[in-house]
Amino acid sequence: MKRVAILISGGGSNMIALARSMEGDHPARPVLVLSNDPAAPGLDRAAALGIPVAAVDHRPFKGDRAAFEAALVKKLDAAAPDVICLAGFMRILTAGFTGRYAGRMLNIHPSLLPKYPGLQTHQRALDAGDAEAGCTVHEVTSVLDDGPILGQARVPILPGDDAESLAARVLVQEHALYPAVLRRYVSGDRTPVLL
Ligand code: GAR
Repeated sequence: MKRVAILISGGGSNMIALARSMEGDHPARPVLVLSNDPAAPGLDRAAALGIPVAAVDHRPFKGDRAAFEAALVKKLDAAAPDVICLAGFMRILTAGFTGRYAGRMLNIHPSLLPKYPGLQTHQRALDAGDAEAGCTVHEVTSVLDDGPILGQARVPILPGDDAESLAARVLVQEHALYPAVLRRYVSGDRTPVLL
């Protein structure tokens, strides 16, 4: 059975979708939900599912990313994960951290990468007049929102959409895509999932 750690910063709806998928004949189980915000609502939601939770507050580190990440590594490595899923984890990670977990760390991003890495993805898609938007799961490398694409889901952009309505439509697809990619990934198959 593969061990999966999930990193969150907020509500953790993707984390919940991942955790709920890891049941029955699924080849993986969640072993840790870790947040950089001790008040992240997702921590309570994970605990309610019986998953061990932990937090490393980034704020006392005052921008010392290496020291913050060393604390993250300590918590993570204590859980001995085979795979790490970033699921709405909103801290930029250094090459030291991404290199340590190279080939076993995934991220979900709310755009059709390589379009719109970074923030405000939905507004940028609207401003560009795009006909569609979506989300991407990729392997994490040292470059932000880059790395081999493991899956994408597309949604139409509809007349009258704003960033909020588009984000909600994309999020529904995130909850389908990330579990589908994780399941394939832990089975050793890197073929992209296209929804
Ligand atoms: C999701 O839309 C995820 O794709 C996005 O944050 C949201 C987290 O929601 N991630 C990023 O923007 C990463 N840069 P959740 O906490 O409900 O899963």
